[in-house]
Amino acid sequence: MLTVIDHPLVQHKLTMLRMKETTTGGFRRLAREISLLLGYEVLRDLPLEPVTIETPMEEMQAMQVQGKKLCFVSILRAGAGILEGMLDLVPAARVAHVGMYRDHETHEPVEYYFKAPEALEERLCVVVDPMLATGHSAAAAVTRLKQAGAQQLKFVCLLAAPEGVKAFEAAHPDVPIYTASLDRQLDENAYILPGLGDAGDRLFGTK
Ligand code: URA
Repeated sequence: MLTVIDHPLVQHKLTMLRMKETTTGGFRRLAREISLLLGYEVLRDLPLEPVTIETPMEEMQAMQVQGKKLCFVSILRAGAGILEGMLDLVPAARVAHVGMYRDHETHEPVEYYFKAPEALEERLCVVVDPMLATGHSAAAAVTRLKQAGAQQLKFVCLLAAPEGVKAFEAAHPDVPIYTASLDRQLDENAYILPGLGDAGDRLFGTK
């Protein structure tokens, strides 16, 4: 299932993010702000637990998020740009990292790094990567997380291409996708059009 989060603030900030004049610092700040707003929607069904607290007036039973039940999964390296905004929302969440590169000959994703907290089967895993382009590395990351025990997953990106959505949904029909925009298509180099360019390069000021 694909959900496009069309909140006016998300769309406004996304427009600024796309602009080629946006600086590295501006891009990073906007990506973080958009991610926070996406996270607000993506996490609206987070489980709560009661906690006893004291207000200045009296003791009460209040609700808090079960922080240990959540795991953000950042796909290296551009996932870091979304992870920050998600951690702004839930600072206590656990974090996993998955590193994938594309083999030049087979064009298949190859894992070079995987580190995840224990008991993934008990956690909601929110996998983050700014661009769902071909969908291959996102699908491979989710396959790897399932092998490691994850059972409940969501995928969050800033932009998605129709080709990526199709490939990802074919591989993982049980994993909902959340995005700020469904763009038109991929170009011959698998960049999203109209897109925003290379998200990693724009986040980190590399070329
Ligand atoms: N990765 C990017 O950073 N940009 C795209 O357009 C596609 C994949």
